[in-house]
Amino acid sequence: MSNDSSENCPAVSSDSRSRPGHAIAGSRRCSRLCPASRARTTSLLNLAAELLDPGESYVEVGSYRGTSLVAAMLGNDGEFVAIDDFSFEEATQEGLEASLQRFGLEGATIIGGDAFELLEGGALKGRSVGVYYYDAAHDYESQLRGLQLVEPHLAREALLVVDDSDWDEVRRATADYVTGQPNAQLIFDIPGSDGWWEGMQVLAWREVRPA
Ligand SMILES: C[S@@+](CC[C@H](N)C(=O)[O-])C[C@H]1O[C@@H](n2cnc3c(N)ncnc32)[C@H](O)[C@@H]1O
Repeated sequence: MSNDSSENCPAVSSDSRSRPGHAIAGSRRCSRLCPASRARTTSLLNLAAELLDPGESYVEVGSYRGTSLVAAMLGNDGEFVAIDDFSFEEATQEGLEASLQRFGLEGATIIGGDAFELLEGGALKGRSVGVYYYDAAHDYESQLRGLQLVEPHLAREALLVVDDSDWDEVRRATADYVTGQPNAQLIFDIPGSDGWWEGMQVLAWREVRPA
């Protein structure tokens, strides 16, 4: 889990504020958001969200104070959903909303509560999830469930982004998930290094079903 203790990642000062808009190109769009340790992680989320088809949602589980959500939304169209139980110290819905406001970002749906109860309870009902980013509890069981529970809501083709994949339980859960789910394929697996925090994996979801 990318527990960024700097906590000010999304809280850049007003003079370094980026306005949403495609004028800010590619990875540079996120370069002001975060310390260099997470610059590539946030850029990847921004690029993934840029690939949303009309009507699709970007959904993230684990938003904390908003770094990843702001990164995904900057300059992108689509529906954005953040799920967090705000159990982390200093994680609050008000803090998350303040981060969005700082960047002039509107329209995100913030759902407070336990992600597993929410996903099982139909919180994503009616959505077509084109990008799913999981960055909450990273024990093996949670990690696996976090991937499995979103399946009914995924678009026919989607991206699943897993953070902190250097962690042993995260890595094992992703590997077991891919082994047991023929619709999912690991397409990107980069260890933590300069700009990548503690590793990141991307799975491509392609649903095979009769046309
Ligand atoms: C590492 S932080 C997320 C960081 C965020 N993605 C970012 O870029 O700053 C993990 C978040 O997951 C939340 N969380 C942990 N367990 C959860 C659960 N079972 N359901 C929902 N949110 C949870 C915590 O409150 C915390 O805000």
